[in-house]
Formats: sequence, C-alpha cells, structure tokens
Amino acid sequence: MVQSPINPADINTIQGVYGVKPNLPFTLGNEGFGSIEEVGSEVKNLKVGDWVIPGMNAWGTWRTHALEEEKNLLKIPNDIDPAMAATLAVNPGTAYRMLKDFEKLNKGDIVLQNAANSAVGQNVIQIARQLGFRTVNILRNREGIDKLKQELQDLGADYVLTDEEFRSSKLFKSGDLAPPKLVLNCVSGKAVIELVKAMADNATLVTYGGMSRQPLVVPTSAFIFKNIRLVGYWMTRWNWKHGIESHERREMLDTLCAMARQGTLRAPKHELVPLDSYKDALARSCDTSRFHEAKLIFKF
Ligand SMILES: NC(=O)c1ccc[n+]([C@@H]2O[C@H](COP(=O)([O-])OP(=O)(O)OC[C@H]3O[C@@H](n4cnc5c(N)ncnc54)[C@H](OP(=O)(O)O)[C@@H]3O)[C@@H](O)[C@H]2O)c1
Repeated sequence: MVQSPINPADINTIQGVYGVKPNLPFTLGNEGFGSIEEVGSEVKNLKVGDWVIPGMNAWGTWRTHALEEEKNLLKIPNDIDPAMAATLAVNPGTAYRMLKDFEKLNKGDIVLQNAANSAVGQNVIQIARQLGFRTVNILRNREGIDKLKQELQDLGADYVLTDEEFRSSKLFKSGDLAPPKLVLNCVSGKAVIELVKAMADNATLVTYGGMSRQPLVVPTSAFIFKNIRLVGYWMTRWNWKHGIESHERREMLDTLCAMARQGTLRAPKHELVPLDSYKDALARSCDTSRFHEAKLIFKF
C-alpha cells in the first residue's frame, strides 16, 4: 500500500456506529491505493508497478502490504497525484453519483451543498464544474474564512457563503438564481431547515452524512407545499449493487481518472502522516471541538 486516508467512516467504524460492523480482529481503512510489487504466474491484467484500489469496501487499507486476487482489484493510472489515487474510491464516487443519479440537471443548473470544504464537498465542486453545473456552497464560519472561501473558488465553486450569510442571503429570493433542484446534505440537524427553504418545488435533498450527529430537521410545509423529496445515499450500497466488474463502476472510475489526469479533479486539501503517528492522527480526526483543516492521509 502507498497511501490511505482517515475518513469519518473509519472513525465511525472504530466507534461501532457505522453501517458496517466487522468481526474482530479487523484491519481498518476503506480507501487507499497500492502499487503492485509482485504477481503470480496466472495473473493476466496486472504487472509490477501498476497502481490498484480494492474493489470491495472495508478491505482494510491501513496496512503496508497485502496479498490479493486480481479479480478483487481495480487498476487505476499510475501517473496521477498519489493523494488523488488514495482518495479516489469513496468520496469522488459519492459526489459523482449524487450529481448524476437523483435529478436530471441541465447545464447551468444550481447544486446547493453544506460542509462544502469536506472532501466530498470539494469533489462535488470540481465534478459539478466538469458536468456544467454551478454550485452554491455553505460552510461554518471560522477564523481565516476568506482564505478558505478562496480555496473553494479556486476549485470552481460559484458561490461560497457561511451559514449566517446563507440564512440572510437573497440569492434565491431575488430571482438572480433559480432555486436548486438538487441539494446535498452532509451535516443534518437544524442546518437542513435553511437548505429546504431554498429548494425548488419537486426538488431532491440527498443526505449522505450526519456530521452534526443530529437527526434531520425538516419543515413539514416543504413536503406538502413544495413536494420535495428526501433520500439517502450510501456509496457502499451502490458498490454492493453494481459489483466490481460492472459497466457502471468502470465508467465512473474511468471518468474520474480522466479528470484526475487532466488536473480538473484534485485531491482534497490534505496532510500526509506516517503510520507510526496513528495515535495522534486518530485523536485529531476524532476531535469534534476543532474545525476540519485537512484530510489526513497515511503514507506508508
Ligand atoms: N454516504 C456515503 O456514501 C458517503 C461517502 C463518503 C463520505 N460520507 C460522509 O460524508 C461526510 C464527509 O466525509 P468527508 O470524508 O468528506 O469528510 P472530511 O473531509 O473529513 O470533512 C468533514 C466535514 O464535516 C464538517 N463538519 C464536521 N462536524 C460538523 C458539525 N458539527 N457541523 C457541521 N459540519 C461539520 C467539516 O466542517 P468544518 O470545517 O466546519 O469542521 C467538514 O466540512 C462524513 O459524514 C462521511 O461519513 C458518506
């Protein structure tokens, strides 16, 4: 293995609150890539030096070496940024599927999202731009917010606002922007109320994260008068359904790898950490008192 990130799902797995509860002992890590060091005599499509990602979830990417059958690995280009390769399997796919599978959007349509600085959020911004959609991005306010806003704009974000700015904004009310048909929710809790207020009639809100650890709070009137639709998305379930060798899986991976090679899809803001600093890295990842600064990626 070369690099593998610490994702909220890994923390949730350790805490025993994730959708997958593995039997113990268990090797952690759900995302990451390896470089082939040796192949058996019957291996046909992989050679030494190729880069691969595991085809299944909860494969255990936090390790230096693995022996795996060819059929369980997906080949990726070995000339992309290693941090992009390490973070390719989960978050870009989540962003891609949410942008493609729930609403038929036209060029120029608006996608609204919260936690826009998350790894998924950064992927949404970049992939939406590639697909021709515009993004309205919400963040929590903090020291250095202007720098963070600029970073997201550099990725292709059209509008970046803090929670407070969004609450008082006339963006959708003034008629400047058509209300969004697709809204992506990473936070849940009361923050969803403002998202729902902004939604177009018949629009869809996709919930993929619950970073506030609170239930969704949604005004009843929005269901009745606006006929909005609330759905959830889980990449793991999509992967289970589509399998390793499906056309859909390959099409998605090829599209994301092509964007990565062109430089239109970049790795989330990150910090590389050695595996032997895992205690500090996990403590930082679990610390809910601080704002998210960068994705921590183990470099083996
Ligand atoms: N459903 C799926 O298939 C799927 C796939 C991938 C990821 N996810 C989920 O998506 C979420 C983000 O994952 P990631 O890897 O992109 O995360 P990440 O890069 O670690 O970023 C975490 C994000 O959560 C925000 N956040 C943390 N606590 C918050 C709170 N109390 N209120 C509001 N925002 C808060 C952070 O904002 P601040 O900077 O303000 O702290 C940051 O934007 C996680 O819940 C993860 O499990 C789901």
